[in-house]
Amino acid sequence: MSDAPAKVFPKRIFSGIQPSGGLTLGNYLGALKRFAVAQDEGIETVYCLVDLHAITVWQDPGKLRHATRELAAGFIASGVDPARSILFNQSQVPAHAELAWIFNCVARMGWLRRMTQFKDKAGKHAEEASVGLFAYPNLMAADIMAYHATHVPVGEDQKQHLELTRDIAIKFNHDYGVDFFPVVEPVIEGAATRVMSLRDGTKKMSKSDPSDQSRINLTDDADAIAQKFRKARTDSEPLPETVDGLDGRAEARNLVNIYAALADVTPAQVLAQFGGQGFGTFKPALADLAVAKLTPISAEMKRLMQDVAEIDRVLGVGAERAHAIAEPVLDQTREIVGLIRSRGR
Ligand code: AMP
Ligand code: TRP
Repeated sequence: MSDAPAKVFPKRIFSGIQPSGGLTLGNYLGALKRFAVAQDEGIETVYCLVDLHAITVWQDPGKLRHATRELAAGFIASGVDPARSILFNQSQVPAHAELAWIFNCVARMGWLRRMTQFKDKAGKHAEEASVGLFAYPNLMAADIMAYHATHVPVGEDQKQHLELTRDIAIKFNHDYGVDFFPVVEPVIEGAATRVMSLRDGTKKMSKSDPSDQSRINLTDDADAIAQKFRKARTDSEPLPETVDGLDGRAEARNLVNIYAALADVTPAQVLAQFGGQGFGTFKPALADLAVAKLTPISAEMKRLMQDVAEIDRVLGVGAERAHAIAEPVLDQTREIVGLIRSRGR
């Protein structure tokens, strides 16, 4: 293997979002909006609603079904076209869980113990956390590797999991003397890779924050969006003229980044327009922009949710297409590992 030239894998994009609770502005700017843009780059795009990841903490079954469909509606309303992308829920394609088991046997305990998301989620109760929550990153690596995906657009918080995915691919290839799994590239780009809480500029905006004021939900109406931005925590200085002037002003930086990402401009361009002005001017402008961009999405989500049978049908078609890619990868993986497959032959 060492003398052979490294294999070149064709570019393929994969990403996933958990159907656990509603979608936030952070999910939209950090993930969904960019998923839709990636479809125009002439590369195959595979997007997954990771329901098996969601159940690493207990979910009410009815709510999980609802959240999965609503997430599918959120993808489609944000511009992900199920004809151009493969859109499906994870549990319909068994390759994910099966490859995750093989990766459970490749990844090392010490690697997983370092994962900050597990430490954050399990907190002081790590002994009571599910084994699934601990092994979560191995399933994420399997999601990506089952498609031989090379590029993974995510928010900043997923960077460590992608580094683990690279380590798993490298160790698998090394242990079995193959050049089979690609080493993925994280794609963490844009002004809003880390949208922060509206109440605390040092914390990420999250659907699990107990305060609803801390986040914009994709299902919020225009009044709620405007009210939340009006009440967003800031300092009392006017906006600076340059991006350097945002240093040490986490809340101001966050609002400028959100504006930039929504308007498809750079933070410097936002400051060229609003520098020197106070939040009394900037917040209403931001609220108007957010309402203009987000309310059509929430309206479309509502419309799509009126026909859940159609959503389920779309996910089923996506799962067939996903399975057609993942199953041959699994077949080769079994062969490499030495697992006999004689059923039906
Ligand atoms: P999750 O909701 O944790 O399943 O995350 C789904 C996707 O949204 C991932 O790509 C995250 O990195 C991204 N994401 C979640 N919260 C934020 C945030 N506050 N800012 C930017 N991206 C985010
Ligand atoms: N762990 C990711 C999150 O919490 C979701 C996810 C699961 C994912 N599998 C993935 C993201 C594969 C990218 C690729 O946000």
